[in-house]
Amino acid sequence: MVEIIPAILTDSSARFKELVRRLEPYVNRIHVDVADAELVPSRTVTGYKEIKDTAVAVKFDVHLMVKRPQEYLKEWFYTHADRFIIHVESDANLGEIIKNIKEHGRRVGVAFNPETEPEKSERYFKDIDFVQFMTVHPGFQGGKFVNDVVDNISKFHKKYPGIIIMCDGGVNPEIAPGLIRAGASALVSGSYVVKSGDMEKAIQQLQEATEK
Ligand code: DX5
Ligand code: ZN
Repeated sequence: MVEIIPAILTDSSARFKELVRRLEPYVNRIHVDVADAELVPSRTVTGYKEIKDTAVAVKFDVHLMVKRPQEYLKEWFYTHADRFIIHVESDANLGEIIKNIKEHGRRVGVAFNPETEPEKSERYFKDIDFVQFMTVHPGFQGGKFVNDVVDNISKFHKKYPGIIIMCDGGVNPEIAPGLIRAGASALVSGSYVVKSGDMEKAIQQLQEATEK
């Protein structure tokens, strides 16, 4: 079954905690967007403080859209977040950061911006748990879906059939089926879920769209 993971991207601690509370009854996992106004144009809360204050069982994917992800991990390791997503466009030494995340017993994926060629990071593929294709230009919710990435996903999936593919950005029930056909097995959705009046229904609609 395809996993639908709702995303929180906000610069407000109160809004962050509110969304965790409201999403938690409907999902096993929430995607936390962390932006530093350097790697991407926007800035968000760091997320770890908010999560430490929110005693919830839901799992967290931490999407570090930041130039120096290593500076954020130390605090994140005090939380129960179990998966981290590092951009290949960041300044991180990928080999070292992947090793560090694994040594802390967490899982790790690498993210590619729409224009990035995934093959350039091939040497790390044996050490990661999944890849995340950005299907928008990162930094915001409600961005325009970059259709060219669908082809890149198909090619990637044919070349590396064993690697789990997640897609992040611009996902709605019309777009979801094409991503699944291309080879994705997890879809991250921000605005379609959080801006809908009924989050439970929006998640359900996305889930149903992937089963078509
Ligand atoms: C984009 C973020 C995404 C975003 C998705 O910078 O990494 O996770 O929250 O939001 P939508 O689905 O609105 O594009
Ligand atoms: Zn994200």
